[in-house]
Amino acid sequence: MTIRQLSLTDFRNLRSTTLDFDPAINLISGNNGSGKSSLLESIFVLCQACSFRTHQLKQCIRHGKPGFLLFGRFSDYKVGLSRSEQKQEIKLDGEPVKRRSELASRTPIGIVNADSFNLVMGPPQQRRAYIDWCLFHVKHQYVEHWMQFRHALKQRNQLLKKRQDLNLLEYWNDYLVKPSLAIQQNRRKYTALINDLLGKQMSDLLGDLKISLDYRAGWPAEIDLYQCLQLNRDKDIKAGFTNFGVHRDNIRILADGSPAAQVLSRGQVKKLCLALLITALKLVREEGDRPMILLIDDLCSELDKTTQHKVFQHLLGVGIQLFITNIENVVPSVFQGKEFKMFHVEHDIIKPLKSS
Ligand SMILES: Nc1ncnc2c1ncn2[C@@H]1O[C@H](COP(=O)(O)OP(=O)(O)OP(=O)(O)O)[C@@H](O)[C@H]1O
Ligand SMILES: [Mg+2]
Repeated sequence: MTIRQLSLTDFRNLRSTTLDFDPAINLISGNNGSGKSSLLESIFVLCQACSFRTHQLKQCIRHGKPGFLLFGRFSDYKVGLSRSEQKQEIKLDGEPVKRRSELASRTPIGIVNADSFNLVMGPPQQRRAYIDWCLFHVKHQYVEHWMQFRHALKQRNQLLKKRQDLNLLEYWNDYLVKPSLAIQQNRRKYTALINDLLGKQMSDLLGDLKISLDYRAGWPAEIDLYQCLQLNRDKDIKAGFTNFGVHRDNIRILADGSPAAQVLSRGQVKKLCLALLITALKLVREEGDRPMILLIDDLCSELDKTTQHKVFQHLLGVGIQLFITNIENVVPSVFQGKEFKMFHVEHDIIKPLKSS
């Protein structure tokens, strides 16, 4: 879904504003520290009820104020979210929302910022999150498998930590293995799919680099997960947690056959991360049933003009609602002649600037 209108009050440094957005392209300018990232964050919070900058939403309350208020009109639903020191309330079309996932599955939203470049260089967790993001939005049962897995892992780890009722370990093994195999199968399939698309569609960004993605299960290949849990029972008890499982999966990224993180230049890593993100967006857009929102924070300071142009051109082809921040108040050439809206942030207030 696209977001048509946002009203916010006392979110970070931003005071009180109502903004009407373009369904395709929204450009946001303003000096350092003016509130550009905060505006993107408020849109993210309305879609996910969590932030990409903090684990505690109360950090987003404007200093000295009792709480923040967000209200968004999306193409076919409305969301209200308020947060004070003590409590948080979310309403979807006027009805209270109990589970965050009720909101989170409505509108796929992604963020591209300096942290996105950790996708290649960072720990396996980043790449698991990447593949899971695709799966959450294209395979609706995936959330169920994932929640069952998280629950079983938590219970099993609690037994291991307390070293009590260890006879229950086998009971939880059964509950852990079933969703884990569904997760493994999906992650393997989508890693192969992304690998394929990357080679076919991203050559303008990747040049001659031969990139390959390869799914690695979080337990030894020669045994099944059930056997692995049984064989490592003592090791797990000693450690106080579960050593093997899908929470240890990795997606290896190779460039011309060597680990990409070790051989690529910083600039090549950035292009590869963007190629991976664009591929995921295309996949979710094609296989999923919902339009998406993409927030792009300060990309222009990270990339040269030619790369920016290629990235934006790909994104325009995907057909998603874009929010792009930039310090300068200039329209990238790729957007000229297209419909867009511009906003400027200054003195804690956001003002519509002009439309194309
Ligand atoms: N809870 C809060 N209450 C009030 N102000 C806050 C709060 N949290 C952060 N700020 C301030 O809000 C301002 C805007 O931050 P933001 O990160 O949105 O700026 P920005 O425009 O993205 O800057 P940059 O160009 O440097 O990325 C900063 O000065 C920051 O210190
Ligand atoms: Mg910023």
